[in-house]
Amino acid sequence: MNLPDTARQRKALADRLTDQGHLRNPAWRAAVEAVPRELFLSSGVFLPDDESGLWRPVTRESVGAEEWVEIAYSDQSLVTQLDGHLTPDRAVEPLPGFPTSSSTLPATVVGMLEALDVEDGHSVAEIGTGTGYSTALMCHRLGEDNVTTIEVDAEVAAAADAALEKAGFSTWAVTGDGLLGNPHRAPFDRLIATCAVRRIPYAWVRQTKPGGVVLATVGPGAWSYGTGLVKLTMREDGTAQGRIIGRSSFIPARAEAPVPLSGDLTARAAYVDTERRTALSPAVLEQWMPAFLAQLTAPGVQFVRACSGDGRATTYLFDTRRESFAALSEGGEEWIVRQGGPVAIWDAIEAAVTAWHNAGEPDVSAVRLTVTAKAHTYSIEGDSALRWEHRID
Ligand SMILES: C[S@@+](CC[C@H](N)C(=O)[O-])C[C@H]1O[C@@H](n2cnc3c(N)ncnc32)[C@H](O)[C@@H]1O
Repeated sequence: MNLPDTARQRKALADRLTDQGHLRNPAWRAAVEAVPRELFLSSGVFLPDDESGLWRPVTRESVGAEEWVEIAYSDQSLVTQLDGHLTPDRAVEPLPGFPTSSSTLPATVVGMLEALDVEDGHSVAEIGTGTGYSTALMCHRLGEDNVTTIEVDAEVAAAADAALEKAGFSTWAVTGDGLLGNPHRAPFDRLIATCAVRRIPYAWVRQTKPGGVVLATVGPGAWSYGTGLVKLTMREDGTAQGRIIGRSSFIPARAEAPVPLSGDLTARAAYVDTERRTALSPAVLEQWMPAFLAQLTAPGVQFVRACSGDGRATTYLFDTRRESFAALSEGGEEWIVRQGGPVAIWDAIEAAVTAWHNAGEPDVSAVRLTVTAKAHTYSIEGDSALRWEHRID
């Protein structure tokens, strides 16, 4: 099915992004106006159905050209793959699943590209090609030879490469694990990741020039929220320094996707070492910044809300690596926390959230990060209680 020319929709998208303050640089604006987003969605998209919680497969054939163009230029992330294999053109009815590839919300794409501070002639590495739409914007801005994009999923990479060619960009599209960067094309002036990582791979620091920038979403627990967009500048001594510049949520790097906990949760939390009351509700972990702090304090911890047979709600935090847990259940005005294993997870999280509260509840943008070959150090300036060192041994 042929699609109408979408110049009008592209201009309207650029206008909206400009009005909303995401798009500022005329060169990025020219890219948004030039690159047809629909070219990168040829296998269709999965749209969320809020009522059923399922994903509805939609292709341009199933809805017709007009609605398809409307979807392609809507202000939303468009999921293009579920569970690491399923594309919308292979699905016939709504189905459950976990998004593993998408065309990110245009406001986020453009906001990140603006934050990357590129200059003419810069060479950029992109981790997570996805549909290739963001890659195309970069090719338009910097030239196809200056862009290297890495996608871990071979099928997604092939589709993106074909779409990029169709859009007129023969760029360096590599299939592989972007956590390793791409030593053959390094060093880069800029590295941008459009998948979330638990820590910044040191390969990215090594492959970015001194003075260069790495921009990525980090969250040491890989929760789907409570993660931040970090902007790091490379230094001559091989370290990188910067800060979280805002809240950000992305599909996790494939090797780091959380593995759902299986089995009986109560059995996992059966061997209780301590029990006490706490005034801090576990509901605090549903807020962005406390969730971020929890992940800094207890990296890798998994957060599960469950309801037992008698209808009582329990919140579990499991650190499977260190065989520890905390289980919080209602206990009148307060909460009862039971903890087991070598790490008292809730004690640590409670102390961090209290210190953050006493510091005036600074937002995620107050967090600084230093990356060396041996450690990630997060801190909130001026408060020694708000400092976390994650060593890489
Ligand atoms: C949100 S999508 C990318 C969106 C796209 N860049 C855009 O802005 O429209 C994230 C992509 O990262 C890919 N990905 C996940 N882990 C990766 C890894 N370790 N290396 C390279 N790509 C990865 C996923 O397969 C997925 O296609």
